[in-house]
Order: sequence, then structure tokens, then C-alpha cells
Amino acid sequence: MDRSIIRRGAASTFLLGMLILLLTRNSFCDGKSHGSCREKERNALLEFKSDLIDPSGRLSSWTVDQKDCCKWVGVFCDNSTGHVHELHLKNPDAESEKLYQSRYEMSSLGVPNSLRNMTNLQFLDLSSNFLNSSIPKWFGILSSLIFLNLSNNQLTGTLPESVGHLSMLVGLYISSNFLEGIVSEVHFANLTNLMYLYASDNLLSMRVSPEWKPLFQLQEMELRSWQLGPKFPNWLRSQKMLEDLDLSCAQISDSVPNWFWELSSQFVYLNLSHNQLHGEIPNIAPTVGSVHSVMYLNSNKFNGSLPCFPPNIRELDVSRNSFSELVATGSANSWQQQFHREYPKIHWTSTRLALFTPTQQ
Ligand SMILES: *[C@@H]1O[C@H](CO)[C@@H](O)[C@H](O)[C@H]1NC(C)=O
Ligand SMILES: *[C@@H]1O[C@H](CO)[C@@H](O)[C@H](O)[C@H]1NC(C)=O
Ligand SMILES: *[C@@H]1O[C@H](CO)[C@@H](O)[C@H](O)[C@H]1NC(C)=O
Ligand SMILES: *[C@@H]1O[C@H](CO)[C@@H](O)[C@H](O)[C@H]1NC(C)=O
Ligand SMILES: *[C@@H]1O[C@H](CO)[C@@H](O)[C@H](O)[C@H]1NC(C)=O
Ligand SMILES: *[C@@H]1O[C@H](CO)[C@@H](O)[C@H](O)[C@H]1NC(C)=O
Ligand SMILES: *[C@@H]1O[C@H](CO)[C@@H](O)[C@H](O)[C@H]1NC(C)=O
Repeated sequence: MDRSIIRRGAASTFLLGMLILLLTRNSFCDGKSHGSCREKERNALLEFKSDLIDPSGRLSSWTVDQKDCCKWVGVFCDNSTGHVHELHLKNPDAESEKLYQSRYEMSSLGVPNSLRNMTNLQFLDLSSNFLNSSIPKWFGILSSLIFLNLSNNQLTGTLPESVGHLSMLVGLYISSNFLEGIVSEVHFANLTNLMYLYASDNLLSMRVSPEWKPLFQLQEMELRSWQLGPKFPNWLRSQKMLEDLDLSCAQISDSVPNWFWELSSQFVYLNLSHNQLHGEIPNIAPTVGSVHSVMYLNSNKFNGSLPCFPPNIRELDVSRNSFSELVATGSANSWQQQFHREYPKIHWTSTRLALFTPTQQ
């Protein structure tokens, strides 16, 4: 799928950043590090293991007999300080997309309070398991965290406000869980370094003041299926680095402010589909410094005539809106041809062409 190309591009930017980070800390390249682990952290990890149900025995190397916890599977230490810096416990089946029959899922016996003592942890990836506890209230105590991936689990409860204390955090990935409740300014209070926020497909709502000016500059944000509306999120105005934005199915029923369309020339990926966005779309300037971009504006209530879209858009979906031109033309086919004449530089794939169907009125 075209989207996955974009995703991979985005992810690799992030991975590159992580790699640089890891290399400068000498903890990753030579596999398990040589540092011998600290007793307090070893005990915390053993307790963490006892909080998990691990049917496939992925943590079988985590034992009292193997004293050096830096040699345990998934555990990486800083080789000079011996502190555990990274826990890589993503379900290995996540890559092969065979999750539905995965043998490697771990689930929770309880809230993993033992992790409380892992205050030197910088990297925590527990994604694509079956973790079904809540995220503990004290979570913000893990003040060294740079990367957190809890996506694709069964986590319940609210996103603790203490997450807003994680001032080193660059990537927060909590998509595809059952998190619920309200997320507000407090949750982002000290997240000055946050660049990647992936939190789609939960049961979360955002309530922030229209005057809120976040301290971060996000590069990628996906909040699909959040309750963000009814107003268009005004705070996005402060985000000058955004390249990837998914606000689809976010219950926004507002007009899109002009500053946003100006901002949109920097997007590589934009998905505003399945909202109640209305009003006219102004002409959109070409995306800066990017070969391709994709834009999904479908299933809204945009009206007026179609704007000029930039020639470097590779995929565009404006179907299921109330554009006047669409109403005026006949069959979907003739409309597509007309559109193609007007935007000859857009490279249409045959599947995407099928997206351009006029609204049924
Ligand atoms: C840490 O690992 C790096 C790379 O393997 C090595 O050059 C360095 O000497 C190690 N430091 C210690 C304290 O072991
Ligand atoms: C954290 O470590 C201290 C010892 O430094 C210990 O007393 C305490 O029980 C540990 N807490 C948890 C939750 O493991
Ligand atoms: C976070 O975990 C999910 C699920 O395993 C994965 O799809 C995603 O790529 C991960 N994010 C990063 C930046 O590694
Ligand atoms: C999580 O799921 C497992 C396996 O279904 C179950 O045994 C356990 O009680 C659940 N844990 C919580 C905290 O709900
Ligand atoms: C944010 O950081 C500042 C300075 O480090 C600190 O004084 C404040 O308590 C922190 N607030 C939160 C909510 O973490
Ligand atoms: C845009 O969002 C909709 C609704 O969430 C989703 O179905 C669609 O796959 C997304 N489009 C792309 C290309 O990601
Ligand atoms: C578009 O809809 C708005 C109401 O949402 C209306 O005020 C405006 O006149 C419409 N524009 C056109 C060109 O139909």
C-alpha cells in the first residue's frame, strides 16, 4: 500500500535518530552490553517478569541464576554505568503481521509497579503484546524515557497526567489500545522534546484551551478516531514542523482555518477524512521539499469549487464532499476525466482513481 511507503519513510527517520542515539551511547551495536547490571534494577526486572504472563517463555533468560541482567534477552545496559537503558520486548511476530496467531504475546497479571525503580530507562518497547493492565499513575517517574512504544496492546484506563513529566520523551506511541478519558495540557506540560505522537484508535478525547501553545514541535501526529472536535484544533497553528498528520474520524465539525491550509504545504501525509469539515478550500501551495505527498479530505462537507492542488500530490481523495463541480458533472467516469485534464501532473494509480466519485445528492 502506498501509505506504508510513507509510514516506512517516517519510521526510518525516527529509527535513524534512535540509531545515532544508541551509537553515541555504545549500548546497541555489539549486542548485549558488557556492563554488569545493578542489583536494584535486576530485582525490578525480576518483579516485572512476575507481573507478566509469558506463555512462550520469552523471558526465560531472566533468572536469579544469571546475575548479569544486561545479558538477559531484550535488556540493554549502558556499558559504563551498568544501568539498564533499554527494554526491547516488542512481540517478535509484530513484523510478520501474524499477530492473530502469535505465540509470543505476553499479558499482564497486574499493573507493573516494579518498573518504578527503572528510572534510568531511556527506551521501552512493549508493543504488540496483550498487555491488559492500566498505565500506572506514577509513570512519569521514568524521567529518562526518550522512546516509549506501548502500541497495539489491550491497555485500559486513562493516560496518566504524569506522562507530562517525561521531559526527555521524543516518541510516544500508544495507538490501538483501550485507553479512555480526557487528555489535556497537563499531559504535555513538560514534553518539550516530543516529535512523534501516535495515539490513534483508543477512546480518548482532547480538551485544551484554544489559546494553548504547546512547548513541543511535532513532526508526526496521528490521533485517528479521537474525539477532538467539534472545533478545529487551534493549537496546531504553533506546529511548524508537522509532516504527517492524521486527524481522521475525529468528530471535528468546523471550517478549516486558512492558516491550516498554509501549513498544509509542508505535509507529506495528511488525512482529515471522515469529519464534518465544511467551507471552501483555498488553493494549496506545493509541498515544500517533498517529492510526493498524499492528501485525504474525503467524507466531509467541503463545498464551493475545487481548489488548485499542488502538482506533487500523488494521492488525493476529495470524494464524498459537497463540491459544486462534482454535482454539475455526470457520471463518475466523465468527472474523473475532467479532473485528470485539470490536474495532468498528478500521477493517478488506477485504484486511487476509483476514489473520485461524486457525492450522491
Ligand atoms: C563500551 O563499549 C564500547 C563499544 O563497544 C567500547 O569502545 C568501550 O570501551 C566500552 N566501555 C566500557 C566502559 O566498557
Ligand atoms: C525499589 O527499590 C528499593 C530499594 O532501593 C526497594 O526497597 C523497593 O521495594 C523497590 N520498589 C519496587 C516497586 O520494586
Ligand atoms: C511501535 O509499535 C508498533 C506496534 O508494534 C509498530 O507498528 C510501530 O512501528 C512502532 N513504532 C516505532 C517507531 O517503532
Ligand atoms: C489479562 O489477561 C489475562 C489472560 O487473559 C488474565 O489472566 C489477566 O487476569 C488479565 N489481567 C488484568 C489485569 O486484567
Ligand atoms: C516541568 O519542568 C520544570 C523544570 O524542570 C519543573 O519545575 C516542573 O515541576 C515540571 N512540571 C511538570 C508538570 O512536570
Ligand atoms: C485516512 O483515514 C481513513 C479513516 O481513518 C482511513 O480509512 C484511510 O485508510 C486513511 N487513508 C490513508 C491513505 O491512510
Ligand atoms: C459553503 O457552505 C457555507 C456554510 O457552511 C456557506 O456559508 C457558503 O456560502 C457555501 N459556499 C458555497 C460556494 O456554496
